[in-house]
Amino acid sequence: MDLQEQLEGLQREAESAIAGAENSTALEAVRIRLLGRKEGRLTEIMRGLGQLPAELRPQAGAAANQVKERLAALLDARADVLDSGAPATPREDLSLPGRIRWRGARHPVTLVVDEICSVLAGLGFTRARGPEAETDWYNFTSLNTPLDHPAADMHDTFYLAPGVLLRSHTSPVQMRVMQQYQPPVRVVAPGTVYRRDPFDASHAPAFEQLEGLAVDEGISFVDLKATLAEFARRLFGSATRVRFRPSFFPFTEPSAEVDVSCMICGGRGCSACKQTGWMEISGAGMVHPSVFANAGYDPERYTGFAFGMGPARIAMTLYGIPDIRLLYENDTRFLEQFVDA
Ligand code: PHE
Repeated sequence: MDLQEQLEGLQREAESAIAGAENSTALEAVRIRLLGRKEGRLTEIMRGLGQLPAELRPQAGAAANQVKERLAALLDARADVLDSGAPATPREDLSLPGRIRWRGARHPVTLVVDEICSVLAGLGFTRARGPEAETDWYNFTSLNTPLDHPAADMHDTFYLAPGVLLRSHTSPVQMRVMQQYQPPVRVVAPGTVYRRDPFDASHAPAFEQLEGLAVDEGISFVDLKATLAEFARRLFGSATRVRFRPSFFPFTEPSAEVDVSCMICGGRGCSACKQTGWMEISGAGMVHPSVFANAGYDPERYTGFAFGMGPARIAMTLYGIPDIRLLYENDTRFLEQFVDA
């Protein structure tokens, strides 16, 4: 390394050491390290000048002196600053702990809806949506439920205006899809529905429902059973058993309640299934011919099945959520438990 480079390197180092000295003791230590008579770095360089050929000495000496003067001036200036009590240049406080970021999580009901939709996508069902503000024709009348039918009482809901209400189930999406598309149709329609229910541990006036509909020529009850059985096995595990109990819905005939063997105890009986070994997951049935007629489909040509389920109840069972109100409070202590779910 030639002399010029040595001097430049030393000057750079010295400048930052001087600027970084936080008090006069530290600054004095820097002065001794640079210019100390015995072992100062610059003193040593200057001592070495004697080894140089005579003709190079004057120029080298001048360069070294220049650096010495500059460093002396910087040391004096820094000493003035420290004496004047001006605050030292603030440094970043590297000890400040980082802020933990809230990573965000999907809501447990959304997790279940997405899972159900992806299983049904594997069985050929496309995702569809419909409006939450519906007419009573779509919500009731078109679905073979006259407004004075007792089944309409069970779905007593919130009226926004005469004839316009918050839908009490996702079944009106069946009608909207059939009006828009010709068979074959296979759709799954998740969404919020509204009922005049109390808000307690197991009821909410607004909750998530999910509708399934398949229409084509030659669809039979066997297709309904096979589809829901395969669906349950893919969603809850291959050992899941399914049973159908006769039921009634105005818009399906015949109708059934669909139970699956309890996903918590596997059917042996536990508190989640109230010791029965079964969990009800869905209402279902073959689409009523008059529903087809209302949609403009030929009931003599087409048959189909429909089902409706409550993803919130499934989420509560799967995740052991004891109170439905937890799903609505947006408490991050609750939600953050689903970050990796
Ligand atoms: N819409 C019905 C309910 O909310 C469920 C259902 C859907 C039943 C489709 C049969 C077919 O109770």
